[in-house]
Amino acid sequence: MIIGVPKEIKPNENRVGMTPAGVMEFVHHGHEVIVEKNAGVGSGIDDSEFIKAGAKIVSSAKEVFENAEMIVKVKEPQPVEIEMIKEGQIVYTYFHLAPDKPQTVGLMNRKTVAIAYETIEIDGKLPLLEPMSEVAGKMASIMSAYYLAKPYGGRGVLAGGVTGVHSAKFVVLGGGTAGLNAAKVASGMGANVHILDINVERLRYLEDVLPKNCQTVTSNKFAIIEEIKDADAVIGTVLIPGARTPRLITKDMLKDMKKSSIIVDVSIDQGGCVETSHPTTHQDPVYEVDGVLHYCVANMPGAYARTSTFALANVTLKYGLLIADLGWKEAARQYEPIKKGLNVVFGKITCKPVAEAHEFEYVPPEEFLK
Ligand SMILES: NC(=O)c1ccc[n+]([C@@H]2O[C@H](COP(=O)([O-])OP(=O)(O)OC[C@H]3O[C@@H](n4cnc5c(N)ncnc54)[C@H](O)[C@@H]3O)[C@@H](O)[C@H]2O)c1
Repeated sequence: MIIGVPKEIKPNENRVGMTPAGVMEFVHHGHEVIVEKNAGVGSGIDDSEFIKAGAKIVSSAKEVFENAEMIVKVKEPQPVEIEMIKEGQIVYTYFHLAPDKPQTVGLMNRKTVAIAYETIEIDGKLPLLEPMSEVAGKMASIMSAYYLAKPYGGRGVLAGGVTGVHSAKFVVLGGGTAGLNAAKVASGMGANVHILDINVERLRYLEDVLPKNCQTVTSNKFAIIEEIKDADAVIGTVLIPGARTPRLITKDMLKDMKKSSIIVDVSIDQGGCVETSHPTTHQDPVYEVDGVLHYCVANMPGAYARTSTFALANVTLKYGLLIADLGWKEAARQYEPIKKGLNVVFGKITCKPVAEAHEFEYVPPEEFLK
């Protein structure tokens, strides 16, 4: 199979879909890899490294899309990329289609085979989301601490406090991968952390692995209202796989929060868990609503591009190789996680939560695997 790796074009996205190690593996499996010129530069990977690993460098995204049977990317295809997708071409990347109707319709129109990293699932876990959630979770606490500084719009509270002065209170909504990592970093800085989840088993685990300055709390509307009132930073990391994130903090609730506190809505890529959240970029990451700062960058890991590229490529490679070796149909027949990754196939929605989000017809992926 010919595998194509275009340069990411979303603003400030410096990651790349494949590392030289990945290229070497695909080539070793008998495939051909074409990489767009300078695709790895943002992650500190030079074209010469890709060439050394066996890739061919081409000068434009157009050449990648024209020649590849499978496109391997990081972020959802942008409108100009959607225009270049060919009928039947496999696109293997993050899509996050539930909150994004124009993209969903675009992919349906192009009759692509869209395999989404974020819905590949094993034993209830999302292994291709995990490393990015680790980065985003850790980063959420770093950003919270940064924006709590007065010059950046915050309350002027130091996360860890100092001798004789209280540390900041960080509330983490959702104790999954991003939540755990946010709590680790915030507690490491010395903040007083409260972490909420609806899953008691998960809370028990968090209670075991997190230090004593992290308190676990069962999540419900009452608890959220109480917890955010005196928080300096609120980090939203809840997820219902494949679906739009529930809005746990309403606009009404902001007025009871401290002035110049900060909300980092990590879940923004699935629509956000705060009513007043809207996606922002690394160039212009924060805005204020009712005196509360909102940080809602939808591609947070892009800021730590090199770490993120290697972390992502480490986990996408295994399934990418299976898809290339077996073809998408046989790979989906044999491997349940790959079947779960199928979001759009030849103009039909094959992921139930995405179909429900847009009130489109849902066609089970099995229909295409006969
Ligand atoms: N903005 C970014 O750049 C970025 C990067 C990576 C991940 N993300 C997003 O971060 C979110 C979290 O990802 P994750 O990997 O940590 O997910 P996860 O599945 O590991 O964790 C989600 C947690 O939310 C909990 N939850 C669900 N409903 C809840 C509720 N009402 N109250 C409290 N907890 C609730 C679940 O029980 C689960 O433990 C996802 O939306 C993901 O797409 C965003």
